[in-house]
Amino acid sequence: MNPLKHVAIIMDGNGRWGLKYKNSRNAGHKAGLETVETVIKETIKNKINFLTLFAFSTENWKRPKKEINYLFNLLENFLINRIEELHKNNIKLKILGSKKFSPKLNKLLNYSEKKTSKNNKLQINLALNYGSKLELINAFKKIFSSNKKINEKNIEKYLQTKDIPDPDILIRTGNTKRLSNFLLWQLAYTEIFFEKKLWPAFTKKDFKRIIKEYKDIKRNFGKI
Ligand code: IPE
Ligand code: IPE
Ligand code: MG
Repeated sequence: MNPLKHVAIIMDGNGRWGLKYKNSRNAGHKAGLETVETVIKETIKNKINFLTLFAFSTENWKRPKKEINYLFNLLENFLINRIEELHKNNIKLKILGSKKFSPKLNKLLNYSEKKTSKNNKLQINLALNYGSKLELINAFKKIFSSNKKINEKNIEKYLQTKDIPDPDILIRTGNTKRLSNFLLWQLAYTEIFFEKKLWPAFTKKDFKRIIKEYKDIKRNFGKI
């Protein structure tokens, strides 16, 4: 049985779900948040230590302003309402990506990270304004300016995922088979599950099935 420490998820399909059932993309984002809650609970139940959620990419700024504002409002309200509870549950929140948001949201994100920084049951990495290419460029810049050697160890040291083990599982919902600039370095040996279901329709049962399937995969890491 494979050990399972880290699950990463590209939560895709909110917009299509919202349009189909509520005639509004934003309603899909709202419904997607409920799936986030379900998955967090299940992650804790399964004693998984790291959960990385792709919530907003560096390319998602190309979306209409109305949708972007809705998404960040949703996040703001979620944090205001839930951060105390996450903290009580011994959950640590870490933001991946560059925090270039409204002063109010930046402050809230910093507060949430600081408040939960000593917690150790589950670490939730929220990828916000995150792009893997940008993360790698920044890492290389830091290596150059410190005159260090370019090698695996140094690159990993300067990635935002420093001290986080690589994901064992990547789930992408929404019926597309691509990585969309997510954790390109870190996913080198990750087991990938592309799910047809849209994110708001993804259930506890789906999550459990993936975990079960993962546990029996023969992971080679290049060996035989
Ligand atoms: C959620 O899904 C991912 C975010 C960028 C917030 P989408 O909003 O991309 O939904 P689809 O793919 O358009 O259905
Ligand atoms: C990936 O979904 C980003 C997030 C889930 C946050 P997108 O909907 O942005 O991906 P593409 O554009 O279809 O590749
Ligand atoms: Mg999408």
